Amino acid sequence: MKLLFLNGPNLNMLGIREPDIYGKQTYADLERYIRDFCGELGVDCEILQSNHEGVLVDAIQSAYGQADGIVINPAAYTHTSVALLDALKAVDIPAVEVHLSDVSRREDFRQISYVRQACRATFAGYGFEGYRLAAERLLCQKGQ
Ligand code: DQA
Repeated sequence: MKLLFLNGPNLNMLGIREPDIYGKQTYADLERYIRDFCGELGVDCEILQSNHEGVLVDAIQSAYGQADGIVINPAAYTHTSVALLDALKAVDIPAVEVHLSDVSRREDFRQISYVRQACRATFAGYGFEGYRLAAERLLCQKGQ
């Protein structure tokens, strides 16, 4: 089982950006957290962060035939990107959406998620743990 973890714009600024919303842990801490729980779950993982929509689209396309699942926090592209939605639909790899913050309790413009249509579940507001919950959801579905 191989999972691709994709993180969108400004998540590299974790620890610095709006710590009251996103916490004080850094992006390096997030990567370590993901690698640790993937080790525990016996899952191979690839982790990518980009501030560029096209790089994220390329990564989704490259996962075709390679990854068994995608955990994606598209960050701000959640609320704008038809291109990410189309890429997820194109490869048809089981995907789960994650947000560190509880977007449902934030601004109106964060209530729209384009990628959600191509995702099997969404975990928002669980901080780093959301990534683990997403991976476990993908593992469960693989076993069914
Ligand atoms: C986010 C929520 C988005 O609305 C925001 O643009 C982000 C991070 C989150 O993880 O809570 O950059 O995806």
